[in-house]
Amino acid sequence: MATNIHFHPGSSTPSERSQYLGQTGATIWLTGLSASGKSTIACALEQHLLHLAKFSYRLDGDNVRFGLNKDLGFDEKSRNENIRRIGEVAKLFTDSGCITLTAFISPYRADRNLARELHAQSSLPFVEVFVDAPLTVVEARDPKGLYKKARAGEIKEFTGISAPYEAPESPEIHIKTDEVDVAEAVRIIVDYIVAKGYIT
Ligand code: PPS
Repeated sequence: MATNIHFHPGSSTPSERSQYLGQTGATIWLTGLSASGKSTIACALEQHLLHLAKFSYRLDGDNVRFGLNKDLGFDEKSRNENIRRIGEVAKLFTDSGCITLTAFISPYRADRNLARELHAQSSLPFVEVFVDAPLTVVEARDPKGLYKKARAGEIKEFTGISAPYEAPESPEIHIKTDEVDVAEAVRIIVDYIVAKGYIT
């Protein structure tokens, strides 16, 4: 733990940024099993917002693990730390006025709640989106062949097979990806962030 450090609040406030940027930063936190559709929805949503000239950026599980979190594995402690760091990074992006899209399995309720709490402490919006598909469906999709490897015991601690996924109890948005397509999922999220006034 560092000592003798002092937080520097700066001169620009989130409300001043909202006024000049014409949007309010918000973290849109997608959680769900591997192959549930988190990344697909986040990519489509990022494109949609960009084409509306909205400031948005996507942080994605696989990608962040190539850099910032390349020292972390998939045991429970590593996942806790993965989500803690992402929560902090998302908070910074959102403080800047960005519509921050995060796509991480984030399997533990306590970790997601910690990310939510970090945002609440700074009065920053946090929107939990449960990207929900049954295990049978994601296992049938298996785009990266990971479920097959997990069933064969070639991947340890695989979410849904040999590691837990704690579904959200009261997410702001619940999308069942075996029932709605990507365009509809994007529409549901955009409708929500417009209704909240984060973008117009
Ligand atoms: S977590 O649980 O939030 O820390 O995971 P995350 O950072 O989102 O990374 C998930 C992606 O890592 C790949 N992968 C695994 N997922 C789950 N369990 C195990 N053991 C594992 N090993 C590798 C996988 O490609 C996940 O990507 P998605 O996009 O979710 O399929």
